[in-house]
Formats: sequence, C-alpha cells, structure tokens
Amino acid sequence: MRATKRIAEATQESLHRIFTIAEAPDSTLGRLEQEMSQNLVGFLNNHIVASKNALTDIEQDFVNPHIPEQPEFVSDHMHHLLDKLVAQSVHTSSPSFIGHMTSALPSFILPLSKLMVGLNQNLVKVETSKAFTPLERQVLGMMHNLVYQQDDDFYKSWMHSAQHSLGSFCSGGTVANITALWVARNKLLQADGDFRGVAREGLHRAMKHYGYQDLVILVSERGHYSLKKSADILGIGQENVIAIATDKYNKIDCQKLAEKCRQLSAQNIKVLAIVGVAGTTETGNIDPLDKMAEIAQQTQCHFHVDAAWGGATLLSNKYRPLLKGIEQADSVTIDAHKQMYVPMGAGLVIFKDPASVSAIEHHAEYILRKGSKDLGSHTLEGSRPGMAMLVYASLHIISRPGYEMLINQAIEKAEYFAELINQHDDFELITRPELCLLTYRYAPKPVQALLARNDDDANKSLNLLLGKLTKFIQKRQREDGRSFVSRTRIEVSRYGGEKVIVFRVVLANPLTTKEILQDILEQQCQLAQESENFLPELLKMAE
Ligand SMILES: Cc1ncc(COP(=O)(O)O)c(C=O)c1O
Repeated sequence: MRATKRIAEATQESLHRIFTIAEAPDSTLGRLEQEMSQNLVGFLNNHIVASKNALTDIEQDFVNPHIPEQPEFVSDHMHHLLDKLVAQSVHTSSPSFIGHMTSALPSFILPLSKLMVGLNQNLVKVETSKAFTPLERQVLGMMHNLVYQQDDDFYKSWMHSAQHSLGSFCSGGTVANITALWVARNKLLQADGDFRGVAREGLHRAMKHYGYQDLVILVSERGHYSLKKSADILGIGQENVIAIATDKYNKIDCQKLAEKCRQLSAQNIKVLAIVGVAGTTETGNIDPLDKMAEIAQQTQCHFHVDAAWGGATLLSNKYRPLLKGIEQADSVTIDAHKQMYVPMGAGLVIFKDPASVSAIEHHAEYILRKGSKDLGSHTLEGSRPGMAMLVYASLHIISRPGYEMLINQAIEKAEYFAELINQHDDFELITRPELCLLTYRYAPKPVQALLARNDDDANKSLNLLLGKLTKFIQKRQREDGRSFVSRTRIEVSRYGGEKVIVFRVVLANPLTTKEILQDILEQQCQLAQESENFLPELLKMAE
C-alpha cells in the first residue's frame, strides 16, 4: 500500500516536472536538442544510418503491448529512443538516398517546427488558432495564385471570406485527392427539387434521383492509388476508377479518353471526374492537361489535376509551361511535403471556384458555426496542426526564385543522370525525365543488343531475368546502406507494353552531386557481378 502511494507521488511529481521544467542543457535531451539545432545535417549524418538490421529483428524491440505502470526519466527514455529508434531509422535526407520523394529539409525547418509544436494551435477553428487561420488562408491564396493567377481583387474578395475558401489544407496528397473528389461528387449530385443532395440522402437515393446507371472516375493507368481509396470512401467503388492507356511517353492517350467518355455517355454512365496527373509517381510525366480540360468540358464533368508531386514545378518560370492547362482545372492537389521541402504532413487542394467548398460544408453548434471563419467547416480532417506556417515560412525564406533554382537544378540533374545512363554500356534508360524522376535498369551491352532484335518471345525471357537481376541489385544496395534507389514495375511500350521491373530515382535533394550519381551506377555494376544466377544466365543467352 505504502509502495503504491510512493509510486503515485513520484508520478505526480514527474508529471508536474515535465510540464513545467525544461530539460537541463547538459541532459541527454538538452544535448541532443543543441546538436540538432546547431547542425541538422551533421546530426543526421552522425546518428542515422540505413541500418542493416532486418525489420523482423527490429520488431523484437517493439513487441510489448503493456502501457508502463511506472514513469521513466526523460533522459533514460531518450537513450532508449536513440538506440532503438533513431539508429534504426532511414536517412531520408542523405544525398545518396534518391529512391523516394522524401528528401532533405532546409535547416530553418527544425526550429520553426519546434515553434509550431510548442504553440500547438488547432486549425479546426479560430478559437484555437487565431492568427494561424488567416495565415493558412493566405497560404491557400498564394497557392491558388500560383495555379490560377487571378488578379489582386479576386484574392481581396475571397481569401478571407467566411462563406468561401480557395482550398483545403490537409495532411497530404491522399486527403487532398479525396477532398477534391468529395467536392466533385457533392456538386454533381447536389440538391434538386425534393432531393436534398447526396451529402444528406446518400449515394443510393442520389443515383435514383438523377437516373444514372453508374458513376466513374477516369485517369491514366499511371494514376496514384489514392484515387482508388477516394472512390472507395465516396461510395463510387474502386472498380469505377477507369484506367485509360498511356502513350509511349507515359501520358494519357487523349483519343482513348474521349472515346471512353462517348462510350460511357451512351451507356448512361456519368463521368464524375477526369483526373489529369502532373508528375506521375512512377515516371514523373505530365498529362496533356489542356487537351484533358477540353474533353472534361465536352463531357461536362469535374476536371481535377493531381499535381501532388509535380505541382511545385509551377514555381519555376522555365518549366511552368510543362503544366499548361492546369489553370483550367476545377481543383488541383499539391503536396508541399514533396518538392517544396516542407516536412511530412503538408498537402493542399486548391479550388478554382472559391464557392466550391460549400458542397462539403459542415457545421456544428459549439464550433464551425455558420458564418464563422473556422477552416474545419470544409476540411475532411478535424483537429489539424499549424503546418501551413512551415509552407508560409518556406515561401518567404526560399522565395519563388529560390524554388525555381531548386526545381530547375533538380530537373537538370535528372537530365545529366539520364545522359550518364545512356552513355554507359551496361545500363538501359527506361523512361526519360520530364521532371526530376527517371527509371532505368542494369542490362549488359550484349543483352541490350539482343533486346534490340525485337524478338517478342526472346524479349519476354530476357525481361523476366533482367527483372530478377534489378530486384537483386536494388535489395543488395538497400542492405548495403550507402545509397538507395527504389524499384517499380511499369509497362514499357518498346517491349509491347510488357511490365518490366526498373530502378526508380527521384533527384530532388539539392545535395546530391554528380559524383554521387556516378558512384551509384558504379555500385550497381559491382552488385550485379555478385548475382550468381541471373547475370551469368543473361550473358549466356546473349552469347
Ligand atoms: C501523384 C501523386 N498523388 C498523390 C500522392 C499521395 O500523396 P501522400 O502520400 O502525400 O498522401 C502521391 C504520393 O506519392 C503522388 O505521387
């Protein structure tokens, strides 16, 4: 009994301490904090490696389902985290980590994040965010302006209007896409006569009222899987996301798209939305957005552009024309946590028409009252952090020309890497970079010569083996931990649309040098030699 009382008192005391007393500068946490704020990049270099430990081994450190009954000293817990978590994390900001869209962060992000976390504002309502609400509205305005380039009067009218919003800030591209299609669905199946709208009566009654046979979303076969999640959640069904074939440049085939629209219309199947992709996840290509906008207009459907990854290209005056037509979209998704160098948790969807969000507006008695400026009345998420502050700060600190420099250099680096691959005898470039993303594979010169004969059967066997070799090299390289490229499987038109396993690289990290890229190819050549089965077999076939 006395022991229980002692534990309770100690718990009470330490609880009070962690809310009131900062950790001493010479404690583990204090030292860690200092080191991180003085030199973020150095800290990560010193402390984080791509661990060689298997995930199943790491899992053994995280198997206890019991919530501790005794408090722990912060310093002790920090040691535990450094050992079990930090040391086993992935060094996503490493210049040789070029496999994914997650890249290095500017040094000012860490102290600003601390400020954001410390203030702990909740953007769902003005009462818990005050200045953060107008700030977020300004960020949405800046991004709206980046896409739609309206005049200043437009932004003066709508940016801070209680009944309107230029977009929705959210946690990422997935939620942004869901929000865009949610608006599209509710606008299409809006209240009409006795029918009170899909939002209130549901999809079944909406379909009956409007007399549609079905509802579909059209996107290229390179569309991101979040669109299927959206269709699932919105009651449209994953199978009603119809994939339209792409051309040899991985862009949607507009003839096929228009044909499909005509076909569907003849079957009384309503196209809810046509989705253009501005920077596909796997190849980085951009759909012909202007032509798609025209088809969407003819089809009288919502035109959404998923520019989660490529949207930041609009910050570059040089490459902005690649996204021609985006300004005709009804909605646009952009992830600030991809090419805008903001940490994870910063996505947004922008609406051309500031009144669009009224289609998804929700009110409650104690907050989000009608006429309030609460942002939560038209966001999918409820409580949200003040991430918009990091976008706001980045736009000010880096500025548009700064972003232009980052974007242009990334694209030019990808072009350099493509050239390096092309000039190398033993590599085959699979998709050319349009933005800073490309795919390629290891294919020794004699194998490439054999592939060039275009013998379908022989190429099938070669591609199968080359796929196994690519997988082998990619896994070994990841395990080795010095560098990382990702891999994917894509249809390649020069092989009759056959699905081929390829390396995929994203060159967004400004610290990735040409030397690092040369080293990565060199490493891959060496790793290929370690393959005991695939490489010898391939070379034998090519003899
Ligand atoms: C084109 C595209 N759309 C949507 C998403 C989803 O974004 P998030 O992972 O931020 O939810 C991604 C992510 O890679 C993407 O590349």
